[in-house]
Amino acid sequence: MKVLVVGGGGREHAIVWKLNQSPRISKLYCAPGNGGIASLAECVDIPATDPEGIVNFAKDEQIDLTVVAPDDPLAMGMVDMLEANGLRAFGPRQRAAEIESSKLFAKELMNKYGIATAHYQFFDEYDAAVRYLDQVDFPVVIKADGLALGKGVIIASCRKEAEEAVKAMLLDNKFGKAGHRILIEEFLTGQEVSILVFTDGITFAPMVSSQDHKRACDNDEGPNTGGMGAFSPSPHYTPEIAEYVEQKIIKPTIHAMRKEDRLFQGVLYFGLILTDSGPKVLEYNARFGDPETQVVLPRLETDLLEIMEAIIDQRLDQIKISWNDKAAACVVLASGGYPGSYDSGFPIEIRTKSECLLFHSGTKRTPQGLVTSGGRVLGVTALGSSLKEALDKAYDQIDSIYFEGMHFRRDIGKR
Ligand code: AMP
Ligand code: GLY
Repeated sequence: MKVLVVGGGGREHAIVWKLNQSPRISKLYCAPGNGGIASLAECVDIPATDPEGIVNFAKDEQIDLTVVAPDDPLAMGMVDMLEANGLRAFGPRQRAAEIESSKLFAKELMNKYGIATAHYQFFDEYDAAVRYLDQVDFPVVIKADGLALGKGVIIASCRKEAEEAVKAMLLDNKFGKAGHRILIEEFLTGQEVSILVFTDGITFAPMVSSQDHKRACDNDEGPNTGGMGAFSPSPHYTPEIAEYVEQKIIKPTIHAMRKEDRLFQGVLYFGLILTDSGPKVLEYNARFGDPETQVVLPRLETDLLEIMEAIIDQRLDQIKISWNDKAAACVVLASGGYPGSYDSGFPIEIRTKSECLLFHSGTKRTPQGLVTSGGRVLGVTALGSSLKEALDKAYDQIDSIYFEGMHFRRDIGKR
C-alpha cells in the first residue's frame, strides 16, 4: 500500500514512525514533512493547507490512503475533497471537524446533550462583551471562536486584562477572523488530562491517557504555547475517572455527533479538566494532539494502519487494540523566543544518540546538515518502566543536543 501523511510536525513524525512499522505499507509519503520525517518517508513539497495540491498528488501517485493529521486541512474539508475524488482518507469530514474549528458549535453541542463544560457566553460585539465583564468573577477566560494555533486563549486575571483581550480580538483584529467571535467563560481549576479516542462514529476506543504542558516556562509560567512536553499515563486519570468520562463525556459526544448528522470518524481529542465537581471538557480537537501523540503512539502495540482502516470501514468493533504498560515522556526543545518571534536556520548538533525517539517538529535538511526551521524544533521522547525512568532518559539525551537559542522546560512530568 502507498500511504500519504499530511502535515509536518512532531505529531506527523510520530504517526509516520508508527505507520512505518506496518508490514502492509510499501511506500510512505509525507507532505510537507520535515528533516526527521525525511528519514522514514519521501517528503513532498506540498503545504498541508493546499487541498488541491494534495488531491492531485494522491491521484497522480495512486495513493491508497491519505492521513490528514493537522487541524487546518481538516477544517478546510480536505477529507471530503479526497473522497469526492474517489480517494481513501483518514480523518473527520469538514462538518465533523467543526467540533474543533468552531468553539460555538462545540459549546452548543455540549449544552444540548448535557456534557459538562465551563459556563460561557458568546459575543461578536465589543460593547456587549465589555458590559458582560461586570457580571463575571476573575480570573476569566477569553477565547477566540476559530482556530488560532493554540494561542487564542487568554486567561485574564482582572477586568483590565479581560478588556484588553476582548479589544485585541473584537476591535484590533489581532487573531484575524478566528477572533471575530469570542467566548467568555468561567475559569476552572483542576488537573488537565488529554484523552485521544479512536472512533468510527459508533464504536470508540480511548487511547492511553496523557498530559500536556502548555505554558512556555517551568512552574507553568509564561505564555501558552503549542505544547512544551507531555507524558503518559496521567496518574490523575484513575480507572474510576476513566469509566465516568467514557459514560458521561466520550459516549455522549460521539452519539451527539451522529445525531447531528456529523458522524465523526477519526481521532477525537478530549481536553479535560478534573474539577472538584467532576471532569469537564475544556476543548475538543478533531485530530491527534501534539505533543500528546509523541507519548501515546510509542505505547501502541497494534498496527496503526489496521486501526485507521477499521475506522474508515466502520468496523472498529472488530479489532482489538493493545497498549504496552510503559511510561512515556516527551520534552520539547524550542527555538529562542518561541512562542514569540524567533530566528531559524541554526545547525542542530546531536552528539550522541541514545535509545530515545527524536520526533522532529521544526527541522529542515540542508546540504550543511540539519537546521532549525520552526518554533518547536524537536520532541525528545523516552519510554521507561516508570515516569521517572522515562524522564531521566529524555533529559540525558537532551544533554547531548544543542542549537543556538535552544530552550526547554526542566519540569516536565514533575507536577
Ligand atoms: P484550549 O485551547 O481551549 O484547550 O485552552 C488552552 C488552555 O487554556 C487549556 O489547556 C487550559 O490550560 C486553559 N484553559 C482553557 N479554558 C479554561 C477554563 N475554562 N478554565 C481554566 N483554564 C482554561
Ligand atoms: N496539545 C493540544 C493540541 O494538540 O492542541
